[in-house]
Amino acid sequence: QGRMAEPEHIFGSVQRHFQSGNALAGKKALVTAGPTYELIDPVRFIGNFSSGQMGYAVAEALAQEGAEVTLVSGPTHLSCRHKGITRIDVVSAQDMYDACIKANQSADILVLAAAVADYTPKVKAEQKIKKHEEGITLELSKTKDILATLGQSRREGQFIVGFALETENEMANAQAKLHNKNIDAIVLNSLNNPKAGFNKPTNQVCVIDRSGEMIQGEAKSKNEVAKDIVQFIISKTNK
Ligand code: CTP
Repeated sequence: QGRMAEPEHIFGSVQRHFQSGNALAGKKALVTAGPTYELIDPVRFIGNFSSGQMGYAVAEALAQEGAEVTLVSGPTHLSCRHKGITRIDVVSAQDMYDACIKANQSADILVLAAAVADYTPKVKAEQKIKKHEEGITLELSKTKDILATLGQSRREGQFIVGFALETENEMANAQAKLHNKNIDAIVLNSLNNPKAGFNKPTNQVCVIDRSGEMIQGEAKSKNEVAKDIVQFIISKTNK
């Protein structure tokens, strides 16, 4: 391009060259990442603090193992470096749902790491809402649960991983999500852990599968955590 590539891209290419495996060659993966924005009017939205880092790291780690990855991403500032990743940008929970239903048709491995809004404004105002002295009330309706929808229609041979971000009764809530959403494994992160959660470079997770197997990880970079999650998926799907 007539100028030096960004150092992190050079580093990424060198790292990939030496670290790539091919345990997932021929497999297709669907990953969701980031927040969703639910529009109130043309200038305002309801969102959350998700940076997308964890989902992007999982997409990269899957691609490094040879999977063909579709990354459905909410609004983030991140970029993808691996050629094996096709990114689909979405804004709202409904957009993410639509993109996932489509990509699910050919997906073998699904890792849903996005922080999808649970509620969306019933009415999206066409024009900017003006200030009212007496305040306003927003009516919200429930969004579709993407993970539960894909879990309930799970096909033979698919392996589905969800995330649970909890602030209390962490283990019980994560296990309930694992069973209620009919998925194969859940990655629990607790907001009570100072090394885990939104917008942090590190994460500390516990991976739980349907047989009750539980792997408690140490606090490490999100890239390292993503590699552990992918190795866990490989160990479960290559049996
Ligand atoms: N999820 C999803 N679609 C939604 C809501 C959540 O796919 N509409 C997925 C997330 O990507 C994550 C998992 O479900 O993999 C759990 O998300 P979380 O926000 O922890 O749980 P919820 O099911 O939304 O339940 P609650 O907010 O009550 O904890």
